[in-house]
Amino acid sequence: MGAGTIVITGGAGFIGVNAAEAFIRDGWRVIVFDNLSRKGTDLNLRYLQQKFPAQCEFVKGDVRYDYFSLLHTVARAQVVLHLAAQVAVTTSIVHPIEDFEINARGSFNVLEAVRQAGNKPLVIYSSTNKVYGGMPDVVCVKGATRYSFRDFPDGIAEDRPLDFHSPYGCSKGAADQYVHDYGRIYGLPTVVFRQSCIYGQRQFGIEDQGWVAWFTIAALLERPITIYGDGLQVRDLLHVDDLVAVYRRAASDPARAAGKIFNMGGGPKRTLSLLELLAFLEQLMAKKIPVTYAEPRAGDQPVFVADIRKAERELDWHPTIDPLPGIEQLHDWICQNRADVERVVATF
Ligand SMILES: NC(=O)c1ccc[n+]([C@@H]2O[C@H](COP(=O)([O-])OP(=O)(O)OC[C@H]3O[C@@H](n4cnc5c(N)ncnc54)[C@H](O)[C@@H]3O)[C@@H](O)[C@H]2O)c1
Repeated sequence: MGAGTIVITGGAGFIGVNAAEAFIRDGWRVIVFDNLSRKGTDLNLRYLQQKFPAQCEFVKGDVRYDYFSLLHTVARAQVVLHLAAQVAVTTSIVHPIEDFEINARGSFNVLEAVRQAGNKPLVIYSSTNKVYGGMPDVVCVKGATRYSFRDFPDGIAEDRPLDFHSPYGCSKGAADQYVHDYGRIYGLPTVVFRQSCIYGQRQFGIEDQGWVAWFTIAALLERPITIYGDGLQVRDLLHVDDLVAVYRRAASDPARAAGKIFNMGGGPKRTLSLLELLAFLEQLMAKKIPVTYAEPRAGDQPVFVADIRKAERELDWHPTIDPLPGIEQLHDWICQNRADVERVVATF
């Protein structure tokens, strides 16, 4: 498909702003549909509008309430990238109804708008590895600085049974299944990406979500850092540019992606534990970073590493950015945009 119009719900958020910029550079016209509820989204939106005044349109709207605006917006698109969400597990536990309304009902509204619009754009959905739950049956081995899987050297594949855990896991998981099923039942082209930990520039990470960015920001601004659990928890990390590359791949060849579900992360070669990240940041900033410890969080997996071979095989996509250079780049972005980051962090 040649470049056309893409609607990005949540397009003023971290992944959204990076996706918008990349699609515009590919020649797409981008419509950002966002309610600007996330702190820092005003800065991301201003960045896009100043840089690309002719190619970026903004529709202020809420996926929960502004159905007709959503309908008219998606009717103009060849691709809908649905990113808008309540993104923190912790918040979902405190406000489960709001979490449901945004993530489950809001995603349902996006799907219904697409179905009713009738133009059949490709719908790309940003799901999460949390749909696999705590995986209590998976044996983890404790090492000096990290846990690791005993039996899954390639990571967790898409055929792992679903086990929604936490309201966020349930609401994102419900949307994941609706998106997949709208493809089967209504013949809409849809693709689901179950994302691991994504990090990179323009991420205003907070303690509740976006730990790589939060640790980096907190260490730089000398804010207190709390580690929930022992810090040996491991995640596979995917730089946002690598994630956006797979969205671009799907958008440019919808037939290849449609009807499928892919795990999307850095895979076994791109993993880091919390303590390893802190050690790297200490080296990078040449200072000691003080931390305090607290009880582990509900539903927190000791290890999650995605098996990304399906996406590599079927979409011919491969991550290219390793965690340490990627985090150094994020660190540089924070230093260069320190005043903005400080302004956002001051509102937390
Ligand atoms: N960042 C990660 O590590 C990660 C991992 C797995 C999945 N995801 C998923 O990727 C997507 C994007 O995440 P992100 O990290 O960019 O988060 P983000 O918070 O930066 O972006 C979410 C955006 O959605 C907008 N939004 C929230 N509620 C809305 C509503 N009711 N109506 C319209 N807009 C609304 C926010 O203002 C924000 O711009 C989310 O769906 C998230 O669940 C992210």
